[in-house]
Amino acid sequence: MINTHTTVKTETVIVDTTFTCPVNSFNEWDPLEEVIVGTVDGASFPSWHIALEPVLPENQRETFRLNAGKPFPAERVAAARTELEEFVHILECEGVKVRRPESMDNLKSFSALGWTSTGLYTAMPRDVLLVVGNEIIECPPAWRSRYFETCGYRPLLKEYFREGAKWSMAPKPELSDEQYDYTWTEPEEDEPTRLVITEFEPTFDAADFTRMGRDIIAQKSNVTNDFGIEWLQRHLGDQYRIHVLEFNDPHPMHIDATLVPMAPGKLLINPERVPKVPSIFKGWDVFHAPTPIIPDDHTLYMTSKWINMNILMLDEERVVVERQDEPMISALKRWGFKPVPCNFRNFNSFGGSFHCATLDVRRRGRLESYLLD
Ligand code: NVA
Repeated sequence: MINTHTTVKTETVIVDTTFTCPVNSFNEWDPLEEVIVGTVDGASFPSWHIALEPVLPENQRETFRLNAGKPFPAERVAAARTELEEFVHILECEGVKVRRPESMDNLKSFSALGWTSTGLYTAMPRDVLLVVGNEIIECPPAWRSRYFETCGYRPLLKEYFREGAKWSMAPKPELSDEQYDYTWTEPEEDEPTRLVITEFEPTFDAADFTRMGRDIIAQKSNVTNDFGIEWLQRHLGDQYRIHVLEFNDPHPMHIDATLVPMAPGKLLINPERVPKVPSIFKGWDVFHAPTPIIPDDHTLYMTSKWINMNILMLDEERVVVERQDEPMISALKRWGFKPVPCNFRNFNSFGGSFHCATLDVRRRGRLESYLLD
């Protein structure tokens, strides 16, 4: 804190010039003050591309091929929009300032060197923007359809920058054909995970990282390569340590339905994907996410049912959870948390839940270490 003492005549006036950066978030659990919540307005099936194949549920790949470049069904968008409004209302009632991106015309095709694509949505700020401390980073996407997605957030990014945040952008990848393995096919059950992206240029989605102060957990995935992780490590510098963990996930994309740090010393894991708790979590309480109860006939375009783990911590106790997910709500209570239920199953159809749909721009806290060395 900087206090400037200015002497005016005989009085001493204390001017508090404490700098409050609008962007300040080091982990997933400090008290949430400001958040960006995505929008489903304008959500569209993107142009078909090989990079989609490994991460879409098998029963959705044909739907994406057939509907490429068309909007998602209007009634699904409307149902998800209603749930987003409920979520925003709940966050505001819990004292959080909510910001929204601009929707984009995702039906309009755009080009880069040697390829064209239509867009997807601005529903999941967690994927394309990474907040580390006072810095907000535009991520280098592996999906061509997401190449310009951060433009929907630019008015906010400019505002945060003007108010003192650091605003960066990772090297913009060309996303030329060298970036992809066009021979990708589904591996047999006994074969190792096969990733569709190469190491041609750095790519990563922010959702493949989860922040725990000085330590950041990452996974390699169908959108995040070693090159991207290395770029981020060097960009962040020695104050941060990125730990790359491997999970039992044949179609990895985004870590937040696999491993979710909820509070200092408290970790939620996907029991199917994390058969052995990584040793860096020595001394932590480990909670197994309950088996999801989303019915088979509920459309999930882009994720598994483990999206039930994609919760949002409002602080070390309060946690936003899907209202119909009774097993998760009971488990959270049993583990000592305070669940804040919100309807979100229709939003889940679009590939995310509360964590994906948000970017925690500001949490009240500072850089700390949470792991036993
Ligand atoms: N790709 C993950 C979801 C991550 C939010 C899954 O389908 O389980």
